[in-house]
Amino acid sequence: MTDATTQSAAPATTTGDEWWRSAVIYQIYPRSFADASGDGIGDLAGIAARLPQVAELGVDAIWLSPFYRSPQKDAGYDVSDYRDVDPIFGTLDDFDRMLDKAHELGLRVIVDLVPNHSSDQHAWFQEALAAGPGSQARTRYIFRDGKGVDGELPPNNWQSVFGGPAWTRVPDGQWYLHLFDASQPDFDWDNPEVGDMFVDVLRFWLDRGVDGFRVDVAHGNAKAAGLPDVDAEMAEAGSMESPYFGQEHVHEIYRRWHTVLEEYEGDRVLCAEAWVSPLEKMARFVRPDEMHQAFNFVYLETPWDAKRLRPVIDESIEVFGAVGAPPTWVLSNHDTIRHRTRLALVPPPPHGAGIGPTSISKADPVVSLRRGRAATALMLALPGGAYLYQGEELGLPEVTAIDALQRQDPTFARTQGELWGRDGCRVPIPWEADAPAYGFNDSGASWLPQPAEWARLARDAQEGVAGSTLEMYRRALALREQFGLARGTLEWLDVGPTALAFRNGDVTVVANLGHDAVDVPRGEILLTSSPLDAASLSADDVVWVRTV
Ligand code: NOJ
Repeated sequence: MTDATTQSAAPATTTGDEWWRSAVIYQIYPRSFADASGDGIGDLAGIAARLPQVAELGVDAIWLSPFYRSPQKDAGYDVSDYRDVDPIFGTLDDFDRMLDKAHELGLRVIVDLVPNHSSDQHAWFQEALAAGPGSQARTRYIFRDGKGVDGELPPNNWQSVFGGPAWTRVPDGQWYLHLFDASQPDFDWDNPEVGDMFVDVLRFWLDRGVDGFRVDVAHGNAKAAGLPDVDAEMAEAGSMESPYFGQEHVHEIYRRWHTVLEEYEGDRVLCAEAWVSPLEKMARFVRPDEMHQAFNFVYLETPWDAKRLRPVIDESIEVFGAVGAPPTWVLSNHDTIRHRTRLALVPPPPHGAGIGPTSISKADPVVSLRRGRAATALMLALPGGAYLYQGEELGLPEVTAIDALQRQDPTFARTQGELWGRDGCRVPIPWEADAPAYGFNDSGASWLPQPAEWARLARDAQEGVAGSTLEMYRRALALREQFGLARGTLEWLDVGPTALAFRNGDVTVVANLGHDAVDVPRGEILLTSSPLDAASLSADDVVWVRTV
């Protein structure tokens, strides 16, 4: 390795001391984390009981996917009451107890806010249906007359993200817009009542003591005036430009929310789920008077390839730094194939398709575990914030053996099985190798089937076991803290085209993404993503070395 420093990124993360600039935030998917009631679906009491283990991992905060009242047509992202807990997850008291426990353990708590759409069971949508065309109640959603002689054609050509048309016709002949499932009507954010309602919802949870919000489909709330057709050629080419995503006036919403959060003590945070590109456009969501973090999905979607990862890392640090925000790295969540599997799939599946039992894309289990761990070791050494998704610390793979009748993601049904959907990353996680449902509950019930091989991945089978994935995560998180990596500055070192190496303060990180062996720098070895048995790094290995 030469010492040539070819690029040094701006010290973007040193602009403030807010906790979220350097935080590792652990995503809890309540349905699949821990189930105290034993009905096969996780709940808030289950989460509270397992929080000490989350704290022991060494993360700073948790983000909970939705637990609000909901018919569960999209696993809770179809909210019928934003100010209440769904009975399958417990009660508001359970929420308060869980929150107190998290705070006692030193964990901050971020909740999910779903402002682009509600459930069709929300009181406002029911009122709109009953009130009929032309009513004030309909202006809270996007109702339009159809095209064609009798209005029998949808108002425009927009397609649902989950497949099929984005419009559904109601018995009186009007159509309503739903960018997702037909049970998730989009709000009309041009109606000020919608904005006021969400400010009340923010306050409701801020008053209860939450530390922030992950904002669902943050790029979608504002639609282009007149709802123009999507340019078919651009859509075909996979463009993220559209009349419903990333419209400039969406930012006004977050400027208002910013001022609401400012009224509260303790650096509350807004994190954007904004699937926009390029990165510069994503960074607009985290300008100083808007949100604070945005998931770096460009990074998540970059394959395990040194030549492609390095410019994405550079650009991320640069564009987020330019607006005074930290980059927010992420590899897995409840919408994407678990990275332990995804990064090793051959051939890579079509974008957003998921994988299932008959997919031609396969991942070798040994290569994929090694690569998944390496990708995490690389990510956790980068400056900025990071998100982890429950179960990745156990090295869980994507589950493909879920048959059609068990699949619950609306994507699968709406595309007649053409897209597998996201159930494979949502399977309840294993805690105890020898317990019913691997300790997810006492009853053995599980809303999605848990694979038999998961006994050896259970948390208790990895705890204290040298070289286990769990212990690698713990060590990486502890070292990240000890060496201040999240607030550091990245300085690239030249190691050839198929590896990446950089210095972050006292730590030198080398990642081998190719097949040729790469030298390990001299110094104290702090972390290895797989057991290191030579002075050189094999394919899919990452090492952290103390070089001062
Ligand atoms: C993004 C969420 O992460 C996903 O799970 C959900 O289906 C859509 N938004 C719609 O709310």
